[in-house]
Amino acid sequence: MEQNAMIRQAVMEMLIKKTPQEMQQLTQDIEKMMMYYRCAMREVETKFLVLDDQLSMNGERNPIESVKTRLKTMRSIQQKLQRLELPFGREEIEENLNDVAGVRVICGFIDDVYMLADCLLKQDDVVLIRRKDYIAEPKPNGYRSLHLIIEIPIFLCDEKKPVRVEVQLRTIAMETWANLEHRMRYKKDLSPEKLAQIADMLNECAEMSNVLDLKMQEVRDIVRS
Ligand code: GTP
Ligand code: MG
Repeated sequence: MEQNAMIRQAVMEMLIKKTPQEMQQLTQDIEKMMMYYRCAMREVETKFLVLDDQLSMNGERNPIESVKTRLKTMRSIQQKLQRLELPFGREEIEENLNDVAGVRVICGFIDDVYMLADCLLKQDDVVLIRRKDYIAEPKPNGYRSLHLIIEIPIFLCDEKKPVRVEVQLRTIAMETWANLEHRMRYKKDLSPEKLAQIADMLNECAEMSNVLDLKMQEVRDIVRS
């Protein structure tokens, strides 16, 4: 409901010059598009839950700790289009925004991250659009995760539509670091010295979390051998 109200408000603000009929059409278009994204997100979430069920059959604990989903808010969609200097419209969103629907998969171990990504990408209705491995190559601030932009078909009564979903796969340690780093980012009213100090410390924490992941992986490899 709240999302729909925001869609209406966004459309009103952006298209004040349009006729009421044109505005109504655009609102309907955007609502429909958001419904597609919601369905695609659910579909991908289910794919991971199914994989988790199947992979836990061979006597091991489930590889997935948790799956989180989020739909981008109208406000962030608008802000991103503005940053890209694009007008507000369904085509602009579908063609330029890959992260309207997001699914985050949190695993215990690094090898589960890659194994789950492979299992997903092997499915014949999943098309890989982009892969960014920030585990193999962390961001300069220390951020680690495996990012996939995929396209999956959504089956409705009368149509089949490919929809993009951003999938982020990471370990518990990576998730902890990313969540805390994200929270700190809002505290921009600090001196440049303090900000530099914080950046260094966060980088150090990222390294420590990497050491933790690698050690845990080693332990697991021994347990399995
Ligand atoms: P966006 O326009 O932000 O989507 O950037 P992008 O298309 O270059 O994608 P990228 O793969 O770099 O990052 C997309 C998402 O990953 C972000 O929206 C965050 O959820 C997450 N992410 C990327 N970098 C960082 C980071 O440094 N810290 C945290 N906490 N999250 C990050
Ligand atoms: Mg994003």
